[in-house]
Amino acid sequence: MFPRGFAWGAATAAYQIEGGWQADGKGASIWDTFCQEPGRVFRDQSASVSCNSYELWEEDLQCIQQLGLTHYRLSLSWPRLLPDGTTQNVNQKGVQYYNKVIDDLCACGISPMVTLYHFDLPQALQDQGGWKSPAIAATFGSYARFCFQTFGDRVKLWITINEPYICSKLGHEDGIHAPGLQEPGTTAYLVGHNMLQAHAMAWHSYNTLYRAEQGGMISLAINSDWLEPLRPGCTEDIAATERCLAFTLGWFAWPVFVTGDYPEIMRRAIDAQSKKQAYDGDSRLPTFSKEEPAVLGTADFFALNYYTSRKIRAGCGTGGISMKGDQDVEEVLDPSWPISGVSWLAVVPCGLRNLLRYIKNTFNSPVVYITENGFAQVGKLQMEDVQRSEFYRDTIQEVGKAIQEDRVDVRGYFAWSLLDNFEWADSYSVRFGLFHVDFADTKLSRTIYRSGKDYAKIISKNKCMGKT
Ligand code: BGC
Repeated sequence: MFPRGFAWGAATAAYQIEGGWQADGKGASIWDTFCQEPGRVFRDQSASVSCNSYELWEEDLQCIQQLGLTHYRLSLSWPRLLPDGTTQNVNQKGVQYYNKVIDDLCACGISPMVTLYHFDLPQALQDQGGWKSPAIAATFGSYARFCFQTFGDRVKLWITINEPYICSKLGHEDGIHAPGLQEPGTTAYLVGHNMLQAHAMAWHSYNTLYRAEQGGMISLAINSDWLEPLRPGCTEDIAATERCLAFTLGWFAWPVFVTGDYPEIMRRAIDAQSKKQAYDGDSRLPTFSKEEPAVLGTADFFALNYYTSRKIRAGCGTGGISMKGDQDVEEVLDPSWPISGVSWLAVVPCGLRNLLRYIKNTFNSPVVYITENGFAQVGKLQMEDVQRSEFYRDTIQEVGKAIQEDRVDVRGYFAWSLLDNFEWADSYSVRFGLFHVDFADTKLSRTIYRSGKDYAKIISKNKCMGKT
């Protein structure tokens, strides 16, 4: 079912697995700070040690090899490389660490996909306004150039920013992710805008300075649920579903893939609400100016993080000044969908196929990599995690159908995650790994779950069967 050369991967992120939070000159990130604030994270835990991949990388590599992955998606810790966020101060130990990881992967025939930013902004930059400050785009641009220059001879797949939606909303609207700001209806849009600028700067640098020599591809990872109207024939629910898609997937995909601007539905809704609320300014949604780098066309492929689906019904206009108020929709879980360990993750494998078809039709048949997809376990540890195994089997089957029957150009699939790790505000209470990590044991031993073994079987079967 899968074309030859299909990328079979698993993904991780620096803050979630590396530990070594102060090792060898690393600077603090906003997650280091956030975890120190009581009440922010489950049991006030942090990822100061986590899986200690900073010291135990070779064990991770064994896990990667045991699965038979062709690709491994990792993220670079910006403050490990540049402790104050700027290229004026490079931490050579950090460079050495990632050089070793990348060299080891290449030596084993595994291609790295590297994310530049996965939620862990250098605290020093947060102190200057973080993602709220327009200056961040140029700073990110320099960081990106530094990474292309340093690692781009071996890295051919780049992600600039992971899930700008989650960073903007959870970090700056809801305040449940670092930096913990709760500034509803304003800051998230500003942050999203600056992230798009930062991404565009990085893409343009790659395009003009490195592409010819390095020959890689670069994109940003966009997360989206699959959404359907709760009452299929109801015009209000259909409109609400379109609105919700515009505010999530469209917010970042529309400017990059379609028009260079936000989706019209989003623009209209926020402009109208801003006016009604006598907002001090034109609109709470920023506008793209001619002075800013062009955002349209700044993705060489569509990087999609998919976890779950939702039914959507029209809201009742009571959200006030907030993203929720602007969208005015209610999200509903279909009672027939099984729930994984976490309440937000309903198991809907066919939602991924639907979403892939939607992406093909809406964004002009792009090359797609599924850069994350996974299943959470909580509570009693189950090494025989049959439900997760079935989740992967069924979801991968849907990807196969999207390729074969819907002709979506999917080039790779990355399971989230290689290892149990620090699941942000839920810390270690939620486990997404294909390998169990024993956090109570000082060795932090890694043991493959049943789902890991089954994923390895899927990979080995499909690697051999792949045709061009
Ligand atoms: C993030 C991961 C996270 C996963 C599961 C994605 O939003 O990129 O860092 O662990 O979802 O919640």
